[in-house]
Amino acid sequence: MSSSSDLAHQIAEALEQATAALQAAPDVESLRRTANEHSGKGSVLVGLKATLGSIVDVEARKTAGRAINEAMQSVESMVAARLNGLERAAAQVAAAGEAMDLTEHLARRLRGHAHIVTQAWERLEDVFVGMGFKVAEGPEVETDFHNFTALNMPPNHPARSGFDTMFVKWGIPGSTLLRTHTSPVQIRVMQEWDLPIYAVMPGRVFRRDTPDATHMPVFHQIEGLVVDKGITFAHLAGTIEAFTKAFFGSDFTSRLRPNYFPFTEPSAEFDVRSSNGKWIELGGCGMVHPNVLRAGGVDPEVYTGFAFGFGIDRMAKERHDVADLRDMYANDLRFVRQF
Ligand code: DAH
Repeated sequence: MSSSSDLAHQIAEALEQATAALQAAPDVESLRRTANEHSGKGSVLVGLKATLGSIVDVEARKTAGRAINEAMQSVESMVAARLNGLERAAAQVAAAGEAMDLTEHLARRLRGHAHIVTQAWERLEDVFVGMGFKVAEGPEVETDFHNFTALNMPPNHPARSGFDTMFVKWGIPGSTLLRTHTSPVQIRVMQEWDLPIYAVMPGRVFRRDTPDATHMPVFHQIEGLVVDKGITFAHLAGTIEAFTKAFFGSDFTSRLRPNYFPFTEPSAEFDVRSSNGKWIELGGCGMVHPNVLRAGGVDPEVYTGFAFGFGIDRMAKERHDVADLRDMYANDLRFVRQF
């Protein structure tokens, strides 16, 4: 039969082993396993508890029971303390891994810049503002009235079919569309602004087109409109020439070629010539048709005006010698970073 001093010795030994094992546990998981081994079912201490019944002497049994409980408790508090320490260490490691060094700087700065179409758009605005124009913008979703009818293209006018229009499912079928040009903003400006008008209207326009090297279904135009007393074709030609020199440089010149647009009469196409002699077709222009002035609420017997419109994407393409318009919209950084 084991003596009580024998039992006390076994308890002390079990506690010593538990302490050593718990201190050695390298992580939370092995700590939990070790704790179970030394104080859970099947542990030495629980096994010793089961032998208490065989101690005849009541006092001796109580003393031994208390000793086992104390040993169990100290194992428990050791586990809690170690667990706390391990968890804190793990959190520190995780935090160190996620830490951002706010003082870090890259040798090469990764700063973005405006898209080349936006750059052209902003330069165009700057040049025209410098010439005394104001900037206006209109909606991208337009009414048939503003996009066509008010621009002297009544329903069934043949010129409408040249615009490859995308319609919007809204209201009466065919009444609402994605604007095919910036010209409808002319109507809105005439209806809303006081006369005289000196306005440029840049914006995004849409046409049902398959993308290729020179066409995109979404592109950009800038519109110009002047309405004042005594405006003549000479003012139009002079403005185009002044703009050409201001935007492209003094070695550039412009020319007008007769053309047809429903909203201007007479109408012209305008080209610019670079110093190497190459002519670049830029856009259309002309004297605002009396019907268009009337649609804008302007009396054509008192006022005359001129208008022009051209593509911004084309200008960015020419300026940067881009071979394919689609490259300008693919957002490949190797392309974008060149500008
Ligand atoms: N809106 C025309 C187009 O997209 C361009 C244009 C031509 C605008 C003549 C004008 C103009 O203001 O007078 O093809």
